[in-house]
Amino acid sequence: MSANGTVVSEGLEGIVAAQTRLSSVDGQAGELVIAGFPLEELADKATFEEVIFLLWHDSLPNAQGLGRMSAGLAAQRALPAATLNLLRDVAKERASVMDALRMGASTLSLQGENAAPGDPRLDQARRDALSLVARFPTIVAAYWRLLNGEEPIAPRADLSHAANYLYMLSGEAPSAERTRGLETYLNTVVDHGLNASTFAARVIIATQSDMVSAITGAVGALKGPLHGGAPGPALDMVFEIGEAANAEPYLRRKLEAGERLMGFGHRVYKVRDPRADELAKAAEIMFKADGDMALYNLVQDVEQTALRLLEEYKPGRKLQTNVEFYTALLLHGLDLPTDLFTPTFAISRVVGWTAHCFEQQATGRLIRPQSMYSGTKDRRWQSIDQRS
Ligand code: ACO
Repeated sequence: MSANGTVVSEGLEGIVAAQTRLSSVDGQAGELVIAGFPLEELADKATFEEVIFLLWHDSLPNAQGLGRMSAGLAAQRALPAATLNLLRDVAKERASVMDALRMGASTLSLQGENAAPGDPRLDQARRDALSLVARFPTIVAAYWRLLNGEEPIAPRADLSHAANYLYMLSGEAPSAERTRGLETYLNTVVDHGLNASTFAARVIIATQSDMVSAITGAVGALKGPLHGGAPGPALDMVFEIGEAANAEPYLRRKLEAGERLMGFGHRVYKVRDPRADELAKAAEIMFKADGDMALYNLVQDVEQTALRLLEEYKPGRKLQTNVEFYTALLLHGLDLPTDLFTPTFAISRVVGWTAHCFEQQATGRLIRPQSMYSGTKDRRWQSIDQRS
């Protein structure tokens, strides 16, 4: 609090800045509700197309609505030539995939050759949202292949959103189990209250700027390591441990050295992150179908040992498994390299961002908090030859 009694809320912690029907996060109870559905009710049942419809229209689609949504997305998957040309240049500089996604996203306000025209029945914001959601997987997959010296694979309209993403990466249509595994992941991380990137998108759209600008800004916010997270290090830790017998000495060494165990602890969740449960279940099903069960079992051992040691070294801090730990296992099981973990998060969260933008456009005001001036007020002008 300042001398004049102004309360400064650094990081806006505890400030409620918007109303939303899109998701509810209860960190004490460990509950996540997505558009009215408890996460566990939705995550492993819905297709990602159904979740997109739910967030955009506040109800599950009937068969006709789902058909329209699926066809609308499939029609928009190909990239405009300008986007693809840009990605080719960016790959020469070996920029990160998140940087390429940010640059690629910003080109989607162009209507060039190769790009299917938007649906004229939709307003501009809805047309842009459809284009962004449909094309994020194409940008990520095309860029990843270019970065690895391979030609992009054209999207297939007959595959679902999730299956087509995996297809564009590898050239092989995925099994039903792998598609289901990815859909459960995408459903699980689609929205999470007023997190930093969602807030960034709402701030931009609240100025009556456009959808592409809002989403490009959100990608920039998600890229930061404090937000997009790093499930990569959680996976590296499991690989370094290698076998169950090494888990305890390895984790003890880290904790003795004052290091943090990646994939544990959360600012909001003080009980187990409900997303970790959903992803663990999805990983188990997928690994049992066609995966490396030894890795799955090792991850379970590492988790149990980590939780026991965290309670021993950090009693009362309520450090539980977070979403990153099982994200790492699930996405690794889908053969995604760690460099694609955060971009794949963006492929899901772009749906939440666009839905928040619609909400903000419908109900929100310009977002304009205040700052408290902490400088002096009595400086006097000096010409350049007077300055030291
Ligand atoms: N391993 C060991 N100790 C930990 C961990 C951890 N993963 N997380 C917190 N602690 C300890 C801290 O050292 C601190 O100990 P102290 O009281 O002795 O000083 C205590 O627990 C409280 O820590 P804070 O930093 O106050 O907790 P905060 O809520 O700010 O941190 C965070 C949350 C950043 C996620 C933290 O738990 C962490 O760094 N985890 C590891 C990284 C990780 O998994 N990040 C992904 C999070 S999920 C997401 O963002 C989508």
